[in-house]
Amino acid sequence: MSLSGAAALRKKTSDREEPAAMRPVLLLAWYDRHRRVLPWRPPAGQRPDPYAVWLSEIMLQQTTVKAVGPYFQKFLARWGDVTALGRASLDDVLRMWAGLGYYSRARNLHACAVAVLRDHDGVFPDTEEGLRALPGIGPYTAAAIAAIAFDRRTMPVDGNIERVVSRLFAVEETLPQAKPVIQRLATTLLGDARAGDEQSRAGGIAKSRAGDSAQALMDLGASICTPKRPACSLCPLNEGCAARARGDQETFPRKAPKKTGKLRRGAAFVVTRGDEVLVRSRPEKGLLGCMTEVPGSDWRAAQDDEAALKQAPQLTGVTRWHRKVGVVTHVFTHFPLELVVYTARVSGRARTPKGMRWVPIATLDGEALPNVMRKVIAHGLGNS
Ligand code: ADE
Repeated sequence: MSLSGAAALRKKTSDREEPAAMRPVLLLAWYDRHRRVLPWRPPAGQRPDPYAVWLSEIMLQQTTVKAVGPYFQKFLARWGDVTALGRASLDDVLRMWAGLGYYSRARNLHACAVAVLRDHDGVFPDTEEGLRALPGIGPYTAAAIAAIAFDRRTMPVDGNIERVVSRLFAVEETLPQAKPVIQRLATTLLGDARAGDEQSRAGGIAKSRAGDSAQALMDLGASICTPKRPACSLCPLNEGCAARARGDQETFPRKAPKKTGKLRRGAAFVVTRGDEVLVRSRPEKGLLGCMTEVPGSDWRAAQDDEAALKQAPQLTGVTRWHRKVGVVTHVFTHFPLELVVYTARVSGRARTPKGMRWVPIATLDGEALPNVMRKVIAHGLGNS
């Protein structure tokens, strides 16, 4: 933390600046007026449903609010509570999740619902510790659910909160090393039941309003304290913002240069039989586990086209593969991928290779197809 950040935290440094102790109150007052309407948020003052909070938090891991909205609504309409989701098949859950990415989340979501049903009589544990023991719930998600659903005094720190806090206190340390410092500083922004903000005074359900404090910071980061051109004049905490005082707010949070994984390459084979396409399921463990894919080669950094082509499925009547012009690219968290796409057509009599199946092109939307495979199929079925 810079000197000015430390000073801002300690106390009022000028007549214009609000005392640090006022921040939670100012933040909650702003939230009461400007909170975003989001599908998983009940109206102000109403107790959130832990199932909806958990579902939304799992979906929001590495995914934007905008992308999550329709998926959250689809899931809630199909499986209205944790019991229904725990009794669903993993295949159905993966199918519904298709397109949202990071598919281990869907497998953990299902495993978690099963565990809540089996070990907790269908009731979510209400502490961070209890939540962390469940599949797919790490420290951040446990804190988010504990604060939002159960009003536990804890602060989940996501990317938006990291940005707001690193600016407010001008944290000079770079991410990810700065995370513990930011976590500690973010906790100073938690509402205090004794502070007597409006909801607490009114005898609302939430007493500490920890969940509202966290969501207020998330909303502030999403709408005002944005990565580029933050709207500081509208910020409820602007007077005590150390970075703003220096005029370099856009340069926070400080980040260590990004390391991207090495490019991997491979081949994908789009085989059609009339209006059907040949697919298989990926192995249960590992990247995109259990998801649907077209047959393909392995993906490796030192892949050559000939070696990749040798991994084509053996199909009666296919002696030549047609190589599509161009490549399909996709960026995973740990590496970028480049796939060459080959196509072939087979007759109705062709044998189905072991472990594969034919799916009508018209029903591909209902398959658990990750985005990379949607791109591959679109490319393979295109006209080039
Ligand atoms: N990102 C993660 N959790 C969120 C929440 N509850 N509201 C808005 N954005 C979020």
